[in-house]
Amino acid sequence: MTEVPDYLLERSRQRRQALGLSTGESESGGGGESTGAAAPAAAAAGPSLAEVKKAAQAAAAAATPEAPADPPWVKAAKTRPKIPMWVLPILFLLPLWGFVYISLLEQPPVHELGALDVGAEIYTTSGCSGCHGAGGEGGVGYAFADGELLKTFPQLDEATTTWIANGTTGSEAGSVIGDPNRPGGAHVVGAKGVMPGFGASLTPADIYAVARYEREALAGEEITPEEAAARDAEWQNLKTAEG
Ligand code: HEC
Repeated sequence: MTEVPDYLLERSRQRRQALGLSTGESESGGGGESTGAAAPAAAAAGPSLAEVKKAAQAAAAAATPEAPADPPWVKAAKTRPKIPMWVLPILFLLPLWGFVYISLLEQPPVHELGALDVGAEIYTTSGCSGCHGAGGEGGVGYAFADGELLKTFPQLDEATTTWIANGTTGSEAGSVIGDPNRPGGAHVVGAKGVMPGFGASLTPADIYAVARYEREALAGEEITPEEAAARDAEWQNLKTAEG
């Protein structure tokens, strides 16, 4: 047992008073109290200790100076609206979209109809099919199919196109259509009937196209690729001449 000097007890008492704790007990202690006994005595004043802590915290909080205000530029950086994350994929896809957009602005290549396409169309719309049959099987007019037309006109030449342009009405009555030595007998103008001329309603290029269709598609004419190319060129020339 060690004696606690009086001045230490006095200091303790003053300290407690300074902290606002009423500690009647410790004052009664006198000289015989030990430090070991004094500590539990202080702990016994439990609520008071909690109050002390709270008070100390409040004091500390009050003592802590306000955080210094941010300078304006920092404040601006903190408050300015941020770019949202969902903008990222859009930014990445933007060039792709631009590429697609620009390529769509370019005119798609126009599929140009060939002479046979045009000829097929004219064969129907100009009424050739009505008199000669949709498949060239013949009717009011002569048949073209199975090489019949090729017997009359062995070549695709001016005689063919002139006939389509003039018809029966524009041709000399009694003259021969195409080849006079036609196998199976020459076709004489007016012998089969009357065909109108198409020189007024069709252009030379149209007549050339429909003549090709009759021969190559209906009569079964076989031509070499070179011949086909030459005919294509001729058709283009006729179209160009029309302007
Ligand atoms: C109104 C009926 C009619 C129409 C339409 C018609 N033809 Fe004819 N075509 C005839 C007749 C009839 C003949 C025979 C003419 C004759 O005897 O003078 C003929 C003869 C022909 C011949 C000669 C065939 C041969 O072997 O002698 C050709 C080629 C021909 N037509 C092409 C055409 C084409 C191409 C068209 C359309 C652009 C056409 N025809 C429209 C009635 C028609």
